Amino acid sequence: MERLVTPAAMRAWADARRAEGARIGLVPTMGYLHDGHVSLVRVAKEAGSEAVAASIFVNPTQFGPGEDFEKYPRDEARDLAMLDAAGVDAVYLPGVKDMYPEGHQTFVDVTGVSRGLCGAARPGHFRGVATVVAKLFLASKPHVAVFGEKDYQQLAVIRAMNRDLDFGVEIVGAPIVREEDGLAKSSRNVYLKGEDRVAARCLSRGLFRARELFGKGERDAGILAGVAGAAIDGEPRALLEYAEGRNPVTLAPLAGQVDAVTILVAAKVGPARLIDNITLGK
Ligand code: PAJ
Repeated sequence: MERLVTPAAMRAWADARRAEGARIGLVPTMGYLHDGHVSLVRVAKEAGSEAVAASIFVNPTQFGPGEDFEKYPRDEARDLAMLDAAGVDAVYLPGVKDMYPEGHQTFVDVTGVSRGLCGAARPGHFRGVATVVAKLFLASKPHVAVFGEKDYQQLAVIRAMNRDLDFGVEIVGAPIVREEDGLAKSSRNVYLKGEDRVAARCLSRGLFRARELFGKGERDAGILAGVAGAAIDGEPRALLEYAEGRNPVTLAPLAGQVDAVTILVAAKVGPARLIDNITLGK
């Protein structure tokens, strides 16, 4: 596995792979990897990637003031071993100064789909995400890039950016990988200790209840989202941020009878801000 640190090194690797005629797959991450991240590498290969690059970069521009940028968990040695074992060909590990040199002043702002949901609670977050992903696309010139459905709004933001800025990358969404008790895997789950870890199940529990109701014929988007929200509200250690039913493709708000809906939830449990979602009827 090659280790690349600068944008120039990443570009040189990508140019060489393209010259060989290889189809490049990119898996962007912020490190502290788990099975969810590793599944993206598998999906990249299933999507026909012949040379897979993964990036590890804790991107400061997507963290707001008072968020966890400084204490975001890091374990580079373990991450590298996991990526190597997963069959990644190159890992891109730029430093903050490589990505944001002195005088950096250019940002990518995807408007509509970035607003609301996590965009409401984390102003500037998706601007930071879109900016860093644009930079990763330009440096690694991927044919395919894989993102988890765990971050459903992020995936929609990246699809919009890719379309609007003509990146021409095939964006592939990968299913959510969960712990045995339903909790969606996340690097931030390390913040959950003791009773908070148990309480954190309320997000997936509510979503699974909504899925059960949908299976029994309930089609009211408000009722389905309400059921998911109620499971979080009923957990004393959790503070509900939002529980909403949205169009699975456009993320437009939905009310009343629907054929398909994505229910997205966010909540604080102890020190961790957690998100989860489920798509019903696709
Ligand atoms: P990070 O949180 O490290 O996640 C990297 C990728 O892994 C994202 O596409 C995310 O959706 C996916 N992922 C995380 N948990 C998952 C799970 N349980 N199942 C499936 N996929 C999962 O998301 C980011 O980093 C950053 O915002 C990034 C896109 C790298 C830009 O900085």
